[in-house]
Amino acid sequence: MRTIIKSIIATSFVVSALCAQDSIVAAKVGNNVKPAMLKSTDALWDKAKVAEVALYPQTAVKMNDKNANVANANSKGKIVKVSALYNDKCIAFKIVWADGTQSVQSGSDSYSDGFAVQMATKFNDPKILPYIGMGSEGRPVLVHIYKNGLSSYEPNGNKNVELQINRDNTNAFGKDLAIYDKNVTDAANPNYMRSFISEGFRSMTEIKDGSNRFRMDMAYNEGKKSWSGTMGKHLKDENADFSGAGALPVAFAVWNGGKLGRDGVKLLSGWIAVDLSDKKGNEALIDELSAKPKGNAEAGKANVEAMCASCHTLNAQKAAPAFMAPDLSNIGGYSTPAYLAESILAPSAVVVPGYNRNAHKNFEWYTVDTKGVRTSTMPPMMTDEAMVNDAVAYLMTLKAEVEK
Ligand code: HEC
Repeated sequence: MRTIIKSIIATSFVVSALCAQDSIVAAKVGNNVKPAMLKSTDALWDKAKVAEVALYPQTAVKMNDKNANVANANSKGKIVKVSALYNDKCIAFKIVWADGTQSVQSGSDSYSDGFAVQMATKFNDPKILPYIGMGSEGRPVLVHIYKNGLSSYEPNGNKNVELQINRDNTNAFGKDLAIYDKNVTDAANPNYMRSFISEGFRSMTEIKDGSNRFRMDMAYNEGKKSWSGTMGKHLKDENADFSGAGALPVAFAVWNGGKLGRDGVKLLSGWIAVDLSDKKGNEALIDELSAKPKGNAEAGKANVEAMCASCHTLNAQKAAPAFMAPDLSNIGGYSTPAYLAESILAPSAVVVPGYNRNAHKNFEWYTVDTKGVRTSTMPPMMTDEAMVNDAVAYLMTLKAEVEK
């Protein structure tokens, strides 16, 4: 009984804390510390305040994989706990999330757990941030991805995941096992740690020249059934310069390998402001990303259901024909109010990138002219400011329930 009451109190706290997303307050550490080298177990993390961030299933674009679509539709949101540290040179994030099973990629039909940290590289105007799913034209993002691989051995060293062998499955003993272990150290790709620069899903380009000075790490806590991951990077390099910023936008994603990780259940946050506590500047970003929407959600609901539901799925009851337009049933979970207002007023400002034309053949989402410029086929339907604000307030309520 006591635990039930406790969990009710804990849950109501979580819900109220989530009405508007709080900033992540990064704690300053000395320049002798290398935040990018910290492991998730390091005591220094205790200096930082923990922020609760809600991640939601990314359902905007349907995939070719039916099972993945079903898993996604039934997926709930998840709270992850985020802390951040910085000094004059580096910034580092630690994220902790619950996951009952530890999944490792061990063949072509299994997926590993993983996480990603996304950073917008241009954010002078907090109202025009990149599209949350991998950036958009002219609004690049840096994406850092880590997947749990443990020590698996790829016999040919070519990173062919389908050829990976796990130690327990080698049938090797004694000397043979020692040879195996040596091969693992020499040729294994124990974990997948990569970074990309992207201006839209199909434009993701891996940064292979070492110019993105970052490091990631992931550790499973068997007792707590949770993962913790860290990502640390230099504040300034060839790809981005965050060194002058008092606050910067960041977003997080986690994959559950047990649930069709790569294609299936990916949970994503919206843009969250990281407040570099000792620095001034970018208060506008913090205000913008923690503001509650201005409009009236009830009024917005009526208009959106009448004007938009023929193309967009809003929820299970208000489902549009498949693939007509992006599914909006989690749009409130990973959008900012400014992005939603922009999507309504100027549909072509950010065109949802990289959808699959073959899968989405009911209705073209955009046309591409000879210069490659994409124009949304969504008509601008609302121009009245109050009406748009109401619609935005309603759209911000569209998100899956958060897992308890
Ligand atoms: C004729 C079909 C159609 C109608 C009606 C329509 N839309 Fe759209 N909408 C689209 C298409 C296609 C896209 C994807 C291309 C783009 O990004 O503009 C889209 C994109 C969006 C996005 C961005 C989604 C994302 O995943 O980021 C939002 C938000 C949106 N519409 C809201 C609305 C609202 C609110 C209305 C009603 C006022 C509406 N739409 C009416 C077709 C439509």
